[in-house]
Amino acid sequence: MKNVTLEEITNLCIRRGFFFPSGKIYGGLAGFFDYGPIGVELRREIIDSWWNFFVRSREDIVGIYGSILTHPRIWKASGHVDSFIDIIVRCLKCNNEFRADHLLEDKGIKVTELTIENLEKLLKENNVRCPVCGGELSKPEPFNLMFETYVGPKKTKSSITYLRPETAQLIFANFKNVYVSMRLKLPFGVAQIGKAFRNEISPRNFLFRMREFEQMEIEYFVNPSKIDYCPYFDEVKDFRINLLTASAQEEGSEQTEKITIEDTVSEKLIQNKWHAYWIAKSLEWMYLIGLNPEKLRVREHVKTELAHYAIQTFDIEYYFPDIGWKEIEGISNRGDYDLSRHQEYSGKDLTILDDDKVVPYVIEPSFGLERIILALLVNSYRELEGRRVLSLNPRIAPIKAGVYPLLKKTEFIKKARQVYEKLKKEFNVYYDESGSIGRRYARADEIGVPLGITIDGETLKNDTVTIRFRDTKEQIRVKIDNLSAELRKLIYS
Ligand code: GAP
Repeated sequence: MKNVTLEEITNLCIRRGFFFPSGKIYGGLAGFFDYGPIGVELRREIIDSWWNFFVRSREDIVGIYGSILTHPRIWKASGHVDSFIDIIVRCLKCNNEFRADHLLEDKGIKVTELTIENLEKLLKENNVRCPVCGGELSKPEPFNLMFETYVGPKKTKSSITYLRPETAQLIFANFKNVYVSMRLKLPFGVAQIGKAFRNEISPRNFLFRMREFEQMEIEYFVNPSKIDYCPYFDEVKDFRINLLTASAQEEGSEQTEKITIEDTVSEKLIQNKWHAYWIAKSLEWMYLIGLNPEKLRVREHVKTELAHYAIQTFDIEYYFPDIGWKEIEGISNRGDYDLSRHQEYSGKDLTILDDDKVVPYVIEPSFGLERIILALLVNSYRELEGRRVLSLNPRIAPIKAGVYPLLKKTEFIKKARQVYEKLKKEFNVYYDESGSIGRRYARADEIGVPLGITIDGETLKNDTVTIRFRDTKEQIRVKIDNLSAELRKLIYS
């Protein structure tokens, strides 16, 4: 079977209503995509699945939904005003700007130390020139990725604020509000799903690097003296992960090892049990929505790539076509960096009582929604006997079933509409009577509809319909009275 390319997935998504380049009628705006009618349903399935798994089914996690434009001091305290930068170079001839590390990566040069000095050295050593016109490049310089805007009518320095570049800081800034109002006790987590904005220098690879995207984040707060006491650890201790350690990478190796969560902690590869636990739970959810475990690995950040707030970070990476292993989720141990900084900058007491007064440590699983969607799309694309099929897990498929009258005759249509009206009260189903039945199945296969319900001659005699399975094309016949129960079983079990 041939591997799909990112370009083919992009074309399918645009053609079949998953995503549209934003503002396309005016030429498009790089790094922005709008969800189309099928994409918006897929988004809803994924965020609902995530929220159910990480929030509603747990006692120890609650949610918030914070504002997008936030107090500028939040971003000073968090370190984003000073440290949320990429290093760019400008072409001295055509004036185009590029991320210095991307220019090197495009030439197959691996960059692990993202300092100005190192990037300048590598660009010089490898004689890198402008990829557009071949011109000479400027010296590398820092570029802050936050989008700025003004609050109120005056456009002055004091009215500058930022569109949030991560959802996490809203959780830290609301930490005491959530703790007090919900009468929580450590350990507990606060989750949020929402938009984040980054003025990426070179947005590319469809949904992979966007300027406006959505994050699904948890800040999980623990007493620093109990970071190795995780009451749920036994649930995950035998879970096996594909781990690429920082030390392997520092020796120039890309070799992963298959290792249990328990061993990652006992061998001190992951510094504490809570961090290891959240890596396992993240993977568990990714498997649940249908990502292939063989295409997922856990890669530790080497020291030189750690964010300014991080003690230790692991990325969950997916093996994408064209671009290889890439991050879809980061899981960081942020220590007490954020709460301590907000305490310092706001002058408010952010300690809480847990035996003693403590500033909690934080483990942060941070998922990118669109990267998860992109991974799911390439993961599920198949060409089966000339058919293009998205084998999405029925749980998260945007549309669960199509309802089709076999023939465009009044009695077939009447019955099919009755079945459709009944099912749509419970499931996201659609009705399609246009074109041959084969063409209708093919259209459904391409957007991942797992089940096809056909009303045929026999339906009119005995009130049964056929259910066709997307991946195998097999069919079963069921009574209309049992259809809802059958669908529930086929979709959710
Ligand atoms: N709060 C931590 C944080 O924001 P991050 O690694 O910068 O960490 C977390 O981002 C996740 O957000 C990434 O794993 C990725 O899935 C997603 N993400 C980051 N930048 C993105 C971009 N430009 N386009 C799409 N998704 C992005």
